[in-house]
Amino acid sequence: MSETSRPPLSHADWWRTAVIYQVYVRSFADSNGDGVGDLDGVRARLPYLRSLGVDGLWLNPFYPSPQHDHGYDVVDYRDVHPDYGTLASFDRLIQDAHRLDLKVIVDVVPNHCSIEHPWFREALAAGPGSPERARFHFADGEGDEPPNNWRSIFGGSAWQRVPDGQWYLHTFATEQPDFNWRHPDVEAAFEDVLRFWLDRGVDGLRIDVAHGLHKAEGLPDHEHADCDEVTGDPVNPHAWNQPEVHDVWRSWRAITEEYSQATGRERVLVGEVGLLDTEQLARYQRPDELHQTFFFEFLRAEWDDRSLYDVIDRGLETIAGSGSSVAWVLNNHDMPRSVTRYAGGAPGAGPGDLELGRARARAAAMLMLALPGSAYLYQGEELGLPEVTDLPDHVLTDPMFHRTGGVRRGRDGCRVPLPWRAEHDSFGFSPDGGSGTTWLPQPEWFAEHAADLLLGDGDSMLHLYREALALRHRIPALTSGTGELRWLPAEPGVLAFTRGDGFACAVNCSSRPVVNPIDGTLLLASDPEAGEKLPPNSAVWTLLPDGA
Ligand code: GLC
Repeated sequence: MSETSRPPLSHADWWRTAVIYQVYVRSFADSNGDGVGDLDGVRARLPYLRSLGVDGLWLNPFYPSPQHDHGYDVVDYRDVHPDYGTLASFDRLIQDAHRLDLKVIVDVVPNHCSIEHPWFREALAAGPGSPERARFHFADGEGDEPPNNWRSIFGGSAWQRVPDGQWYLHTFATEQPDFNWRHPDVEAAFEDVLRFWLDRGVDGLRIDVAHGLHKAEGLPDHEHADCDEVTGDPVNPHAWNQPEVHDVWRSWRAITEEYSQATGRERVLVGEVGLLDTEQLARYQRPDELHQTFFFEFLRAEWDDRSLYDVIDRGLETIAGSGSSVAWVLNNHDMPRSVTRYAGGAPGAGPGDLELGRARARAAAMLMLALPGSAYLYQGEELGLPEVTDLPDHVLTDPMFHRTGGVRRGRDGCRVPLPWRAEHDSFGFSPDGGSGTTWLPQPEWFAEHAADLLLGDGDSMLHLYREALALRHRIPALTSGTGELRWLPAEPGVLAFTRGDGFACAVNCSSRPVVNPIDGTLLLASDPEAGEKLPPNSAVWTLLPDGA
């Protein structure tokens, strides 16, 4: 399919089936040769994203920040960090993206800010009991003990003491103080932030830790905190998922509706909600709250037919049952890359069996893109990049690594700057003649994953993604309301389903070849050997004879 023949996504509800590409700005493309990615770098690569066939992009935080958590510690929610460009570069980027019919989603971080945020500086200066401190969670401890037993998600206590003896709450790094969402200033400030980006034309906002924000009144101890020094406490019932948070999403939804109606372009809210309970997760995407939340259970599922079947079914029943649609995810900037996960590798523990990981990641991508709903891809996934598992300690920047004394290696291994051109310095991440050094070092084997090389290889992961995305746009059952998923009987180890009348997908999760359970015209295969038989760890898309 040619680039121009893709149907435009101007219709309402575009988000229900869109494929959005996550851009980790720092590591996507560097336009000025300083070894750090930037907004002009993203802009220069928009045609690549357009020809990949995605519908839009989500930009990780690019705001002024001391980068203790690479932009998730925000100093100014309405500006651009100089490493990444200026507001003018953002405006140019969004204009060009819209010209190419690509949606743009930006990241908002409402749970916490940076210790360098003006409000936090004022709070420190103003002292205990001041109105400035009331915008955060400052409290007295007992002797040298913090106010309660809460844990930071990155390891260690969630409290930091300041020189006058009080403590402040930080659910993540010490440099990320949590806002007090019961304070009216906080709510009002974020409504302004929301309007600021909507006025600048964004199509949506991705909301960081959208199940955070409010904390239980009185900040009680977590009775069942069973954590050591290195573990966080993602299930602390007093720190997460407080009922009041839903009121915030209702009022944000009302604001986005206001913009959607006024401009005729539907603006969306996509939440990162780290709850394990699917029923609870679904509550965040009721019709008057967030449009969607990422469905991380899919990413966490083991590579076997039962686990995948259960997760897919639960997602479709519970999330789609809430009136929304499932946002499937296999990769993001917080998780080891799928090729490595499926290979049994891990940061610090080695790459695992990469051939196996690659085969499974190819099949998983085809499975994801055949499911009802939308999908979020993470940069480099289409290049088949494995995690860089052996970054040396001295280059690691993730606060998780430092707060756990190195026990948890952290997330740097999925954030290494992308390889674009095999034969160039920094594999084309920076322009020729740039510093030649990227902010995280790229391994030599990144050359094998360079986009230019993969474009010339019809069997590459990049071609698989391009073909799958082109077919997705061409086959109405995949992106329209008529394409309900129906499971087909299949032997153990195999998943098979139809979408609407004419399309079927089969995935062999087992390690032996099986008979392809579907008859029809083969549209796409993750393994060139697929046909009447499905090789181990492979997937096929099939066009069914009329009305099958
Ligand atoms: C989210 C982000 C992650 C960040 C954390 C704290 O989970 O995805 O990268 O470290 O929030 O803001």
